Amino acid sequence: MFSSASFRAIEGGNLGTSFTSNSRSLSSSALMSSSAHFTTTMNISPRKRVGVLVSVSASASASDSASVNTNSGNNLPVSGLVFQPFEEVKNEAFVVPAALHTSIARQRFMDECESAINEQINVEYNNSYLYHAMFAYFDRDNVALKGLAKFFKDSSEEERTHAEMLMEYQNMRGGRVKLHSILNPPSEFDHAEKGDALYAMELTLSLEKLTNEKLLSLHSVADRCNDPQLADFIESNFLNEQVEAIKKIAEYVSQLRRVGKGHGVWHFDQSLLLEGGAAV
Ligand SMILES: [Fe+2]
Ligand SMILES: [Fe+2]
Repeated sequence: MFSSASFRAIEGGNLGTSFTSNSRSLSSSALMSSSAHFTTTMNISPRKRVGVLVSVSASASASDSASVNTNSGNNLPVSGLVFQPFEEVKNEAFVVPAALHTSIARQRFMDECESAINEQINVEYNNSYLYHAMFAYFDRDNVALKGLAKFFKDSSEEERTHAEMLMEYQNMRGGRVKLHSILNPPSEFDHAEKGDALYAMELTLSLEKLTNEKLLSLHSVADRCNDPQLADFIESNFLNEQVEAIKKIAEYVSQLRRVGKGHGVWHFDQSLLLEGGAAV
């Protein structure tokens, strides 16, 4: 009979009702014709008791409402209950799509958000690709800055993880992941005045700031589309981490500016290797 009523499990049970019984013993006519709003307890799981809020909003007849005891002690129908799930789901917004290539989970997810997420996936992959190129450069036998090589390898993997998080999110919302092209990054990172380590780290700082701008614009798309769930996802998983990454890279740039191009770079690289500088 409860296939036609709505339930909301409430931890703790016993929420002020005199109606405590195995709910399955109620007749469907009593449930469907009564305008009562009552809480009962029933064993959903063998391990714990939960309260179940049952809302029935059809109009009551005097005889039917008498079959449900409420705390008030009288048989007055409780008014003001408007949730009629099986009427409301008849709205076309709740029709489950039948088309093969249409998401059946998608709800309140705008096309603009879907494409903004695909663009951010592309940003993360571009970052990953560039950091991978830096790893390859610093790992060369004639460069051999192992700390920087490891740092950029880890960072490349981190950016790919970001892309994957966005892909999973896209799928969760019923969007479609569309991968765009990524440009080939440079393979040389030496710079006549700055040297390779500082040049690469300044490039990284600029890239992380640009990524922050892209994340903020994705967040603003979520705001504009009135999609708080997407906004929360970006805030919770990306924004804080991005600002922390910018601070860390800015410190590395300052340190590399301080040590110059020569011997100091080797010490910087060793400290990165020994301290295991976390990826950005
Ligand atoms: Fe990232
Ligand atoms: Fe990053």
